[in-house]
Amino acid sequence: MALLVAAYAIGSLSGSLLLGKLRGVDIRTQGSGNAGGTNAFRTQGLRFAAAVVVFDIGKGALATWLALRYAPVGHALSVTSHGYLAAFAAVLGHVWPIWHGFRGGKGAATLVGGLAVLWPFVLPILLAVWAMVIVLSGYVGLATVIAALCLPLLAWLGDAGLPRLYFALAAAVLIVFTHRGNLARLRAGTESRFNGARLLHR
Ligand code: G3P
Repeated sequence: MALLVAAYAIGSLSGSLLLGKLRGVDIRTQGSGNAGGTNAFRTQGLRFAAAVVVFDIGKGALATWLALRYAPVGHALSVTSHGYLAAFAAVLGHVWPIWHGFRGGKGAATLVGGLAVLWPFVLPILLAVWAMVIVLSGYVGLATVIAALCLPLLAWLGDAGLPRLYFALAAAVLIVFTHRGNLARLRAGTESRFNGARLLHR
């Protein structure tokens, strides 16, 4: 339990909000209002966004690694299950951060950090799907949702056991939930298209 609380507390450290304090901005008041890498890029530029993404991936990886390292051996839950639960707790922390008034981001980068420790081979597939949807549609939120929906499918195809399948299902549901605003804007035709080239050359 302490490991899961620690993972939630680590996940609650938001890269965009902490780094934003250094330059006196709260990106929740700008752009899409999301405290994440895409909105950091949209509102603050590439360098800031890169630091945010590295931070958020890193904290997901750290929380997961700590759980795997310190999970009690012989517990009813396996060490691997501790890792999956910690990765999910870190994502919950990112979305509802105790240190930032429970208003955080959408959890994708933190999830990637957990996956980097628990299931690294899935990342190139998710990245390829994500990039392809962005290139074809221009919508980052849609790309993130579609990549997340691939997770349970890949877990099922990979047949690597129930902890991974449950984690993949829970992560996909959570990512769809956190992107409900993006999906509503897509239906209404008001979601903003991501124009990386324009943002890089402004
Ligand atoms: O993970 C966040 C991304 O998928 C969407 O971000 O700012 O366009 O809502 P945003």
